[in-house]
Amino acid sequence: MSPAETVIERIHALGQISDEPGHLTRTFCSPAMRRANDLVARWMVEAGMSVREDAIGNLIGRYPAKIPDAKTFLLGSHLDTVRRAGEFDGPLGVLIAIACVEQLHKSGLRLPFAIEVVAFSDEEGVRYQCAYLGSKVMAGKFHPADLKRADADGVSMAEAISTFGGNPARLKFSRANPKDILGYAEVHIEQGPVLEKKKFAVGIVTGIAGQTRCRIGFFGRAGHAGTTPMRLRKDALCAAAEFILGVERLAKRMRGMVATVGQIDASPGASNVIPAQVALTLDVRHRDDSRRHAADRSLKRMARRIARKRGVVANWEVIQDTGAVPCSPALSNLLAQAARNYQSKVLKLPSGAGHDAAVIASITQVAMLFVRCRGGVSHHPDESVTTADVRVALSVLNDFLQLLARRV
Ligand code: HGY
Ligand code: MN
Ligand code: MN
Repeated sequence: MSPAETVIERIHALGQISDEPGHLTRTFCSPAMRRANDLVARWMVEAGMSVREDAIGNLIGRYPAKIPDAKTFLLGSHLDTVRRAGEFDGPLGVLIAIACVEQLHKSGLRLPFAIEVVAFSDEEGVRYQCAYLGSKVMAGKFHPADLKRADADGVSMAEAISTFGGNPARLKFSRANPKDILGYAEVHIEQGPVLEKKKFAVGIVTGIAGQTRCRIGFFGRAGHAGTTPMRLRKDALCAAAEFILGVERLAKRMRGMVATVGQIDASPGASNVIPAQVALTLDVRHRDDSRRHAADRSLKRMARRIARKRGVVANWEVIQDTGAVPCSPALSNLLAQAARNYQSKVLKLPSGAGHDAAVIASITQVAMLFVRCRGGVSHHPDESVTTADVRVALSVLNDFLQLLARRV
């Protein structure tokens, strides 16, 4: 079997490891993440790497340099998924990186730098809504206060990490030393339609959009659905509904803006009780941080205005604010040079999606290679990438490492 076919076969094997029967849902420090890490660790060892897991559950395979005390180049992506996910978002980058190292190992080649393949433990932020937990710990950007956050079952992040086999008290020792790191490259599905439309297998990412993640509450008053006149109601769900449509209106008006309310929870949750409170999530993205922050402010004012008008109270909590990040021109040019060996033209495109590279960029230079995905579909079971495109991405990453080796 070719390395690209092995990547696809492993993608499908990982796709079977889920916390939710019948769907692919694999969240931070879950039992499925434990099984996924154990399987990927075996593949890393087969590829000639030594393997370790850090205090937050990042799985790291190390392929030594040909010279002692050399710096390390990081490759990787994330192993966690969204709910009812596709198989490629995250794992593709991890498995292509492992296949790349495996080819070096099989040819007995060592480079003038060590390679570490990192399978980050939480990029999506599904379990605790604050994302990038794995890369934040590696970059020294983790907020210890987040350890107290509780998931939907009331399990704190600290407890989840300990149950998984990590160590919440030692997260700061899992920080990478920026002086030891040469750079980071991440292969990831595009999660958009551009490469397919332009008929390219791969593209070079110019930068990663910034994102704000908020948790918003509307607090009204429960009441009898049959006896409470409409004019006397303090209906939290109607307030939330007006706000959600306001979010959509504002995002449609602001060029380059996307905003999403992905989760909503109304209580007490009975058909004959006026909803007393609603909790919802808000995800706002834009390539320009000042435009994104302006949108955040407008939406917060809108929530307050709606609440006042309806006699309810609005609560606004920013869970995470990740700035837009440019990719390194130097590394991106090397990726582009490698890509030109396989494509007549090399497209450069921005990423509307967030990636661990956005956090790792705070400690070293980063580059990303996008791989075409069918219909641009992602965060959906229909996510799909061809073996031929995996073969191109693998070759580009291989050539990129050789080009880099000639420069260090
Ligand atoms: O949400 C995102 O942009 C990424 O999939 N974490
Ligand atoms: Mn994702
Ligand atoms: Mn991803």
